[in-house]
Amino acid sequence: MAAQLIDGNALARQIRAEVAGRTQALKARGVQPHLSIILVGEDPASVVYTKHKVNDSTETGLSATLERYPDTMAEAELLARIRTLNADPKVHGILVQLPLPKHMDAHKVIETISPAKDVDGFHVQSAGALLTGLPGFLSCTPYGCMKLIETTGIDLRGKNAVVIGRSNNVGKPMALMLLGKDATVTMCHSRTKDLKAHTLMADVVVAAVGKRNVLTKDMVKPGAVVIDVGMNRNDEGKLCGDVDFDGVKEVAGWITPVPGGVGPMTRAMLLVNTLEAAERASQ
Ligand code: GUN
Repeated sequence: MAAQLIDGNALARQIRAEVAGRTQALKARGVQPHLSIILVGEDPASVVYTKHKVNDSTETGLSATLERYPDTMAEAELLARIRTLNADPKVHGILVQLPLPKHMDAHKVIETISPAKDVDGFHVQSAGALLTGLPGFLSCTPYGCMKLIETTGIDLRGKNAVVIGRSNNVGKPMALMLLGKDATVTMCHSRTKDLKAHTLMADVVVAAVGKRNVLTKDMVKPGAVVIDVGMNRNDEGKLCGDVDFDGVKEVAGWITPVPGGVGPMTRAMLLVNTLEAAERASQ
């Protein structure tokens, strides 16, 4: 059996159209949703990512600004700039692109962003809101994964879900979101003994490690939903995920491709969060 492909591009397109509609409605009430992005330094990947974020926003009717600073910027100066944006009622979302230069404390920087404008969902208050079931902003990548899983129609109640990877921005919030839908969640990581024993029992597997071939065909329960968060390069330099796609697609029921799966959804959910921030602020 060949797995059905979960098309992240198509779903992201649909979500952007919904965001565009809600943005129009907000604009009609005199509110222009705005995202402020800060990039410190010249990291080539970050330069590309932040440009995408600006373009995604403007194409959807949101406005966005990208502020670029040299990597010699003092941390105090960055914190002061964030505080100014926190106080600006025209700014609804603030995103400081990571990684930051080594002399800056990323935790301190993120905690300076107002939780009401934390559209990345990285602030401890956002993380705490997810943990306790309170309203807050969800981290964009796991939020996008939940939307992808939803399209399969699977009822997560009582299902076994395995998350591979325990990062603060993906693995941990992913596990909490699945738990929020009443799945029985197992978190696996680099110290997990016998990963295969866990994944073979899973109805849903989310691979978020950043390493190729973490999940292979022999490790997947027939019919399972497989979500691949990985972004790696293979020996030929081609983009690939954490999942051995060609093998796993023969066993899984649904699978996300790389590229065209989780990536476009992460970008779409940032727009959702920014719009949501503007809607909340206008209420
Ligand atoms: N660097 C790579 N991905 C992200 C992201 O989603 N948000 C931020 N702030 N930085 C990143």
